[in-house]
Amino acid sequence: MRIPLIAGNWKMYKDVNEAVELAQSLKNVLKDVDANKSEAAVCPPAIDIPGVVSVLKGTNIRVGAQNMYAKQEGAFTGEISPLMLRSAGVHYVILGHSERREYFKESNEMINGKVRMALEYGLFPILCVGEKLEDREAGRAFDIVKAHVTGGLSGIPKEKMANVVIAYEPVWAIGTGKTATPDQAQEIHAFIRKTIVSLYDDATAQSVRIQYGGSVKPDNAKTLMGMPDIDGALVGGAALKADSFEAIVKYYK
Ligand code: PGA
Repeated sequence: MRIPLIAGNWKMYKDVNEAVELAQSLKNVLKDVDANKSEAAVCPPAIDIPGVVSVLKGTNIRVGAQNMYAKQEGAFTGEISPLMLRSAGVHYVILGHSERREYFKESNEMINGKVRMALEYGLFPILCVGEKLEDREAGRAFDIVKAHVTGGLSGIPKEKMANVVIAYEPVWAIGTGKTATPDQAQEIHAFIRKTIVSLYDDATAQSVRIQYGGSVKPDNAKTLMGMPDIDGALVGGAALKADSFEAIVKYYK
């Protein structure tokens, strides 16, 4: 059974003190989450990670990073390695977010290098995939998503796939208030799962969690999570406040 993963992507919000405050509030309000129905994670900016990890230690809320570099160490000014993330207590790492693809020119090949390294160092990658509005309008949504999935997973052995989470985030739905309809999202999620079947096999595809991301809010979370191939959410804006994130994590109520 796939337990939905609700991960908050804090993006470049929250200074060190604000991050600790939000983590403290989440620690309180998420105490009673039904672990059979929902798993919560937060992905703060890298500089906030140690503070957030220390607040959330011993709770059921896991901490993730938003990016990493695909090397263990070296002369790569400004970058952070998977080893460093591990040593800081990080569990998940978001890779290939559309903002990284767009503003930092990350290619499928670069992202694949990061996915491989994350797995090698015991991190759980959240591989983001998704088409832009112009792709969807031109009828290319499936092709783009397939290229993101196959490119991102290239060379990943089957036995590592249980550690991989995929996040489908249509770029036109991120931060815009325009959510994909549950049917639109389900259609692509089913297609992603079919793509994983063709790359691996059915059992592997059934084990992989596929999150939806893009304007997930308390009022649409329940319907989205009700779709057969939607196994969680990657939440941006609504993850920045404890009450809205709590409501999404407890979508089953
Ligand atoms: P949003 O962001 O929930 O603010 O649309 C989602 C994301 O970019 O991960």
